Amino acid sequence: MSSKKPLRVGLVGTGFMGRTHSNGYSQVSHFFPELAYTPVMQAVCSRNAEKVQAFADQWGYKSIETDWRALIARDDIDAVDICTPNDAHAEIAIAAAEAGKMVLCEKPLARTVAEAQKMVDAIEKAGVANTVWYNYRRLPAVSLAKQIVDSGKLGRIFHYRANFLQDWTISADLPQGGAGLWRMDAEAAGSGVTGDLLAHCIDTAMWINGAISDVSAVTETFVKERLHQVTGKVQPVGIDDACIFHCHFANGSLGLFESTRYARGHKALYTFEINGANASIRWDLHDLNRLEYFDHSDEGIVRGWRSIHVTDGDQPYMNKWWVPGLGIGYEHSFIHQVADFLQSLETGGPCHPTFRDALETQKVCEAVLDSASSRSWKDTGVTSFAV
Ligand SMILES: NC(=O)c1ccc[n+]([C@@H]2O[C@H](COP(=O)([O-])OP(=O)(O)OC[C@H]3O[C@@H](n4cnc5c(N)ncnc54)[C@H](O)[C@@H]3O)[C@@H](O)[C@H]2O)c1
Repeated sequence: MSSKKPLRVGLVGTGFMGRTHSNGYSQVSHFFPELAYTPVMQAVCSRNAEKVQAFADQWGYKSIETDWRALIARDDIDAVDICTPNDAHAEIAIAAAEAGKMVLCEKPLARTVAEAQKMVDAIEKAGVANTVWYNYRRLPAVSLAKQIVDSGKLGRIFHYRANFLQDWTISADLPQGGAGLWRMDAEAAGSGVTGDLLAHCIDTAMWINGAISDVSAVTETFVKERLHQVTGKVQPVGIDDACIFHCHFANGSLGLFESTRYARGHKALYTFEINGANASIRWDLHDLNRLEYFDHSDEGIVRGWRSIHVTDGDQPYMNKWWVPGLGIGYEHSFIHQVADFLQSLETGGPCHPTFRDALETQKVCEAVLDSASSRSWKDTGVTSFAV
C-alpha cells in the first residue's frame, strides 16, 4: 500500500495528447519518487465506448465514461485533464471548476480571449489548482535557456526570434473538419497556426523574455476552399495557414515570429534565438537536448557558438533521468509538467502556466489575428507575465 496521496485523474480525449498525458501519469512516480502525490488513472472519457475501453486497457485506466459530464459528476475524480479539440475546452473546464475539480487543460486555452476569460473567472472563483500544457517550457534545454537569460549572462536583450514550421496541409485535396482534421476547421480550432503553433512560441517567449506589448502581423490562407468531412460540402477555409508577426516586448527588445503549415520539408521545426548585448542563445526542437550559446566575453581565438548537450545532472530536470550524456525526448516535457503539478499541490503554489498565464498568451494570439485582418499595429493589453 503506497504512503503517497492519490490524485485521481479523469482524462477527456484519447488522441495524441491523451497518449502523451497518460504516459506522463504512468511514468512520473518512477522518476520523481520524492513527490507526496501520485496520479491514479481513475477514468478516461471519449465518445466511442469501444475505443475508449481499448484506450483504458492499453494505458491502465480503471474505468471509462463516454460523456464528460458523467466524468465530472463522479466523486472519485479529483482532477479533470482536457485533451479535446479547442472548441470543447471552455465548456468542460468551466463545468469541472464549478464541480470543484482541479483542471489541467491543453493549449491553446480557448478559441478566443472572451472564452478564455470565462474559463479564468470560473477557475479563480472555484479556487481550484490548474495548469495549461505549454509543455515546451519543460524541456531541459528550454528551461536552461530561461535560467541563462534570468542570470543576466545575455545582458540587454535586443532580439527574440521564433519559428514553428510544418508542411502537412499543402495538398488542396486535404479535407477540413471532423476527426483528425479539426485543426483545419476554424469553428473547432479557433484559428490556424496562430493558436496551434505560435501560441507555443508566444508562451515560451513571454516566459523567457517578458510581456509582448504590441504586434503587427500578416496571415495567409493559401487554399481558400476545402471539402468539409462532416458536412460533405466544399466550404471556405477560415483558418490562417501561415502567420508572420513582429512585435515589441515590454523590455524594449524586438520579436519576430513565423509559423506555417506550408514549409515543404519541415515537420515540427520549432526554433528560437535570443540575441543579447553579451551573448546569444539558440534552440531547435529537432535537436532538443542541445542549446547553442555564444559568449562574446570568451577569449577571441576560441570564441564561437558552443553546442551544450543538456544532459548533465546540474541542468534542469536531468538529475531525474539516466546518466550524464544520455538524452531524453519530447514525451519527457509532459512527465515534467505532471511532476511540477504534483509538487505545486504539496507547496500550495501555482503550476505555471496557469489559466491566467494562458489568457495572456491568448491575448497576444488575438491581437496578432486582429492586426492581420485590420492591417494595423495592435496593443496586446499584456503588461507583465508570470514566471
Ligand atoms: N501541448 C502540445 O504540444 C499539443 C500538441 C498537440 C495538441 N495539443 C492540443 O491538445 C488538444 C487535443 O489535440 P490532439 O492532437 O490530441 O487531438 P486529437 O484529435 O488527436 O484527439 C482529440 C480527442 O478528443 C476526443 N474528443 C473530441 N470531442 C470530445 C468530447 N466532446 N468528449 C470527449 N472526447 C472528445 C476525440 O475523440 C479524440 O480522442 C488540442 O487542444 C490541441 O491544441 C497540444
